[in-house]
Amino acid sequence: KKRIGILTSGGDCPGLNAAIRGLAKSSYALFDCEFVGIRNGYKGLIDGDYREMKKSDFSGILTLGGTMLGSKRTPFRNMRNIEEDGIDKVSNMIKNYKKMKLDCLVTLGGNGTHKNANLLREEGLNVIGLPKTIDNDIYGTDFTFGFHSAVDIATDVIDKIHTTASSHDRVMIVELMGNKAGWLTLYAGLAGGADIVLIPEIPYSLESIYEALLQRQKNGKNFSILAIAEGAKTIKEAQMKKHEFEQHRLKMQYHTVSYRLAEQINQKLGFDTRVTVPGHTQRGGTPSAQDRILATKFGAFAAELIKNEDYGNTISIVKNKLKATPLKKMAHMRKPVTRDTDEFKTALHLGINFGE
Ligand code: F6P
Repeated sequence: KKRIGILTSGGDCPGLNAAIRGLAKSSYALFDCEFVGIRNGYKGLIDGDYREMKKSDFSGILTLGGTMLGSKRTPFRNMRNIEEDGIDKVSNMIKNYKKMKLDCLVTLGGNGTHKNANLLREEGLNVIGLPKTIDNDIYGTDFTFGFHSAVDIATDVIDKIHTTASSHDRVMIVELMGNKAGWLTLYAGLAGGADIVLIPEIPYSLESIYEALLQRQKNGKNFSILAIAEGAKTIKEAQMKKHEFEQHRLKMQYHTVSYRLAEQINQKLGFDTRVTVPGHTQRGGTPSAQDRILATKFGAFAAELIKNEDYGNTISIVKNKLKATPLKKMAHMRKPVTRDTDEFKTALHLGINFGE
């Protein structure tokens, strides 16, 4: 009998429960197993906060948003650092893994989660990762679950903003999630027909934005939609040292990037501007059909790997084919939007301005 521990870590997203269900139902079908649910991500593994799960726990959760196990961002930048809080996190995690008598641990999460999963692999534990995040920035996979649901939500926001923008001849700024990666803003911008798309990977200049707005006016369009990722930077900000940038943003206060931009546009061009920040609604609610399917596929594939005792991997999907990617290979990488991405090239063909 295989004992499988599950935890969900980092920011939640739609599809976590669907993935857990896919993993559990497939495992029960493929081999003799039992599950242990670890509460609140790695915190639960460190603290020994877990419970035995029953088969019935995995029923009726396919469409539920959030995570039935609870999730936390680990407060520890470096799990190996004992000095910061006097807790030997790594030893605690190994001790609790053994106490639970696990044969393997499945960790559902984003980049931080995978880094920790790899650390546990280095410590000799059997680990499998499932890539979730609305940011879609995990290396080695075309898509993460949660992303498509967030794109649907963000697109719906842009659609709604469109009608009011045109009624009032306004420049409407929609600030979307994505601190380091612009996938969500690029996809929603394309799907919602945004005129300007600003993403962290491509530093923007105000001049270019002003020009694009004036050009639209010349073309007889009296309103514009600007989709900006929360992590988008001006060219000047992109040149700052990390510390200098952090200080600069602290001075501006969290979430004021789009408000600052709205003010600048208004002052320079006289356009009436408004800002909409859908925030955590982008991570809330029921998963889209696409995410339910992707999460279920990831979970079911993880069950196959566990059956074969093929540990130390995360699940990826590449060209619509599931595969196992070694944690060792991907845990310290990210997947930014690059200029050779088809969606980026398409956006350029469509005349979307990236503030360059
Ligand atoms: O990683 C997912 C994400 O939603 C990012 O897009 C965003 O920057 C961050 O999490 C927000 O984190 P929190 O929920 O901790 O505020």
